Amino acid sequence: MKYYLTTPIYYTNAAPHIGHAYTTIAADCIRRVKQMYGFEVTLTTGTDEHGVNVERAAIAAGKTPLEYTDVIAEEFRRQWQILGLGIDRFERTTSAKHAKVVQDLFLRCKNAGYVYKGHYTGQYCIFDNAYINDAKPGDPCPDCGRPTETVTEENYYFKLSAFTDRLLDLYSNQPDFIQPEIRRNEVIAFVRQGLKDLSISRTTIKWGIPVPGEEKHVFYVWFDALSTYMSAVDGENLWPADLHLIGKEIVRFHAVYWPAFLWAAGLDLPKRIFAHGWLLFENDKMSKSRGNIVRATPIHNVLGTDALRYFLLREVPFGSDGSFSYDALVGRYNSDLANGLGNLASRTLTMIHQYREGLVPAGASDNHVAAHAESAVELALEAYERFDFSRALETIWGLIATVDKYIVEQAPWKLAKGGDDCVAALDGALYTSAEALRVIVGVLYPVMPQSCARIWAQLGMDSHLDTVRIKDLHWGHLEPGQKLRPAAGVFPRAEPKSSIEKMKALETEELARQMALLGKTAPPAPAAATAEGGGSAQITIDDFAKVDLRVGIVKSAAPVKGADKLLHLSVDIGEPQSRSIVAGIALAYKPDALIGRKVVIVANLAPRKLRGLESQGMIVAASLGDGAPVLASFLEDVPIGARLK
Ligand code: MSP
Repeated sequence: MKYYLTTPIYYTNAAPHIGHAYTTIAADCIRRVKQMYGFEVTLTTGTDEHGVNVERAAIAAGKTPLEYTDVIAEEFRRQWQILGLGIDRFERTTSAKHAKVVQDLFLRCKNAGYVYKGHYTGQYCIFDNAYINDAKPGDPCPDCGRPTETVTEENYYFKLSAFTDRLLDLYSNQPDFIQPEIRRNEVIAFVRQGLKDLSISRTTIKWGIPVPGEEKHVFYVWFDALSTYMSAVDGENLWPADLHLIGKEIVRFHAVYWPAFLWAAGLDLPKRIFAHGWLLFENDKMSKSRGNIVRATPIHNVLGTDALRYFLLREVPFGSDGSFSYDALVGRYNSDLANGLGNLASRTLTMIHQYREGLVPAGASDNHVAAHAESAVELALEAYERFDFSRALETIWGLIATVDKYIVEQAPWKLAKGGDDCVAALDGALYTSAEALRVIVGVLYPVMPQSCARIWAQLGMDSHLDTVRIKDLHWGHLEPGQKLRPAAGVFPRAEPKSSIEKMKALETEELARQMALLGKTAPPAPAAATAEGGGSAQITIDDFAKVDLRVGIVKSAAPVKGADKLLHLSVDIGEPQSRSIVAGIALAYKPDALIGRKVVIVANLAPRKLRGLESQGMIVAASLGDGAPVLASFLEDVPIGARLK
């Protein structure tokens, strides 16, 4: 039984960050779930190295495109190794094997009559590698908002228009071809408008795979990139893929273009495409220009990879957008891992060491705990099957709570003092807790492989956790008499302030390392990250004079849909129109309590969009690390519009 799944191949114009890690970690988790079901799983990833923006990034770094992509491809490969992800094939689009597969795919499409030559003039987004239909010169890209460029060139066209009806039939006959439903509906709506033929070659760039017999043409990057799913497993009899796991922004390429290319070439389609949502940083898009990109290795170094895996898969329902913040990460780590699973493991193991010399006693199982474990495993596995990781984890944490409660009720520490009368009860309590722990780490293993393997070993299990199969998760497999190994804490409590500072400092180092690899210098680190002991870098009076701080009064305040921490305020600072300001203070202030309150705002901050709302300034507040923000205010009355100097 084979199962072949893929991640997207990542562009090599930027180094890996947690957005990329998110998809690859989810894929690794699915790989492990499928292995538990006995599948022989192959997971491929790789790098998408051609295209004009890679070419330009290389030139800017003073390198040839291949020198440049060699460095970044290695960064991705290294990243997945550090995170311990089970990557079976890593394919680069610059490999000779891949070029051959792309050229073969083209010839198959051409020979079947689906390719013709034409000319194209239009707007093109070099960042998304997509032509923008109906855009005029000067229009921004509707997806990323960056300027489009006008291009005119001789192209090979692919007859995408021939596949409109067939695609619509596919979506209706195979409703799980695109998941989740919201993405499926978007794709159907897009295809229903009718499809235009697609340009699949370029003559304006050189950095690409040449079209056979037409050396001045190179392939359009998506024709090139999608073929990786086949070239990565060329000759291995693994096609078609069982699953393409992707981010929501590239659904159209996978669910419309890719099936059409494959049909035209007479090849099988992948079985399923699942698009997850976007990972934001504190509700904001991560981007180089905002300087808010988070990398995975600092988190790995401070809290461990499993903490990141747990956070990403628990915090964000898979398929929806979600937000990353260091505060939330450390919060979940402490509450769910250190206090939750970690505490259950150390308590259970320590008691068996203490009261039964480290040997699992032959006690009777508690029926209620055993029944809960059976049903929790079943529900968690069903949720894994739907890629509903957060639900699976909630279910498992429900079981952890049951076992915790059971231990408190049984109070083994009292039974241990109760003499002969309590022997059976103590054996039962210890066996039940240890067996529950075994089942919990068994079912949790796909999400947290390293920590679960450590607990598994401490339980004295001889098998390696990655050989555990679904049938082993049933209650009652723990052998009485089994000798535990020494217990050691798996999730030591993290002190929030210092661990966050450490991750931020490592983040700055990691950025500098990656920039140096590309021959660039890193931008100066933000003052907060470099300052020791709460101090900050010095600025001149002229620097300070650039900041326009004004007194304003809050006219209205309302929650922002889908963002727990944000409020949308209208603030009068004495200008003809009040300012629209989006502020991250919702957890500390109720909207009504703010109306009529005087606040300080930074009035000359470049406007930006948050959750689709324009924010024309920033409210000044004291930031208390883990605590709630406190708005700056005055003891004396101050006029609206007054400037702070
Ligand atoms: N090269 C194309 C994909 C070709 S696949 C045949 C591409 N590359 S990318 O580097 O931009 O990576 C895109 C993928 O990375 C997304 O589809 C998503 O899986 C992941 N992510 C990158 N940033 C992300 C977030 N901030 N949040 C979640 N995932 C994101 O598109």
